[in-house]
Amino acid sequence: MSDAAWWRTGAVYQIYPRSFQDSTGNGIGDLPGLRSRLDWVEQLGVSAVWLSPVHPSPQADFGYDVADYCDVDPIFGSLADMDQLIHDCHARGLKVVLDGVFNHTSDQHAWFTASRADKTNAKRDWYIWRDTVPNNWKSTFGGTAWTQDPATGSYYLHSFLPAQPDLNWRNPDVVDAVLDVLRFWFERGVDGFRLDVFNSYLKHPDLPSNPRRWHPGALAYGYVGQHHIHDRDQSDLPEVLGRMRAVADEFGAVLIGETLDEKFRYDRAADFVGDDQLHMAFHFALLHSRWTAKKLATAIRSQLNALPKDGWPTWVLSNHDFQRHPTRWGGGDERAKAAAVIALTLPGTPFLYYGEELGMVEGRLKRADIVDPPGIRFWPVFKGRDGARTPMQWTSEGAFTTGIPWLPLNPDTPWRHAEATANPLSIVHTYRALLALRRNNEALRSGATIWPDTDHADVLSWQRVVASERVRVLVNTVDRSVLVPGEAGTQVLWSTAAVTDVREPLAPNEGRVVRV
Ligand code: GLC
Repeated sequence: MSDAAWWRTGAVYQIYPRSFQDSTGNGIGDLPGLRSRLDWVEQLGVSAVWLSPVHPSPQADFGYDVADYCDVDPIFGSLADMDQLIHDCHARGLKVVLDGVFNHTSDQHAWFTASRADKTNAKRDWYIWRDTVPNNWKSTFGGTAWTQDPATGSYYLHSFLPAQPDLNWRNPDVVDAVLDVLRFWFERGVDGFRLDVFNSYLKHPDLPSNPRRWHPGALAYGYVGQHHIHDRDQSDLPEVLGRMRAVADEFGAVLIGETLDEKFRYDRAADFVGDDQLHMAFHFALLHSRWTAKKLATAIRSQLNALPKDGWPTWVLSNHDFQRHPTRWGGGDERAKAAAVIALTLPGTPFLYYGEELGMVEGRLKRADIVDPPGIRFWPVFKGRDGARTPMQWTSEGAFTTGIPWLPLNPDTPWRHAEATANPLSIVHTYRALLALRRNNEALRSGATIWPDTDHADVLSWQRVVASERVRVLVNTVDRSVLVPGEAGTQVLWSTAAVTDVREPLAPNEGRVVRV
């Protein structure tokens, strides 16, 4: 398998650096801390790490507000620490993917400081300014998307917080500046970028109002009360992506897009992938699916069917923006293992979120613990995203920091932690076993998919097939055993319930991988 295709064959492990490992005792994770935990990542068997943003930032949106794209925030370390991290990852065969937050900058970025200063400066048009509010656009984080700036009295556009002004991607200098940032990091050895809300880069040039849309939540949260046809997904976006792709291709790097979608489901991904656009884009259907065989099948099929021929699927169970899946889906550790079987055996690249290999659940935080801006704004209707970002549970005492963690550790840390994984039935064994299986099994890596493989109402099933081998995956989605007749002469490659005989019924919430 050529190295160029690592992103197709391996899995990516998302690290939220603030919450992975602190090395200074200030309660916030950092790059030297992260580096000290690479054994764990390597032993898991993933191919790459993706780091949520570590650039200098006032942390208004915890790093998704970048004040300098070409440096590292002192809370996370230095550029030298990043170089060292890249070096160490590569020495272990791990690729490094950074988070590219290019739809907007921080209002503390030098580009915006210049842009806001006066109406005639060279960077004025790097952001989107109007003398009066031109349309009805809303911020994803609530309220209007336009804020008046005292310096000139004009309004600037921000799709997120007022502290995150949107760049004007219709200005060619902005595009060139972003391409330079890509080159800066690719030259330092970075292997790819996850592109934050890339489908928002371009807006309709005339900034017309979005048509209204009926939604029960629209009064409290105006964003859902519109069809977002003018503030994102513009038809000339592929051109811009093509320019980014050309730079990535010069370095053999990979681009992974995160789309923001009209239905807030992020499922437009397929429109933006292919040989001259992004390598992959997240399709978040599983984040929004209920845990029933029928709903999960619909979510999976919607991605597989949407992709163009040169597209490549991605599978995401949890990330830093959504409630962690063991909490979303319930069903305890058995179901968390079954979910892993889904993400790790479908065709495409799984993106794992730190701690999911331990079955980490959503942190249950008090009002006083909430620091995420939308959580503060919409509590208790929406409690924000902090619950998905609690510190990694390394030992029975946590061992994330010697100080006071920036978010409280989950109360299940004493028994759910990385050292409590000796039991072969613990979740991490399913992750390690399936990641190893993928590496060594051609059918799971690149096989065609036969779907579905059973019409049992409670069981998800598919086959992955190459000329030399056929693998069958069965996932029992219910809390009772189910008999799906196995084929003679088949062999269990992995069972989350440690079943070894194919003739045995599927245990409650069992995921089983069988060589046919
Ligand atoms: C993306 C990020 C999210 C961030 C937002 C604004 O959706 O995943 O964490 O708040 O973009 O950058």
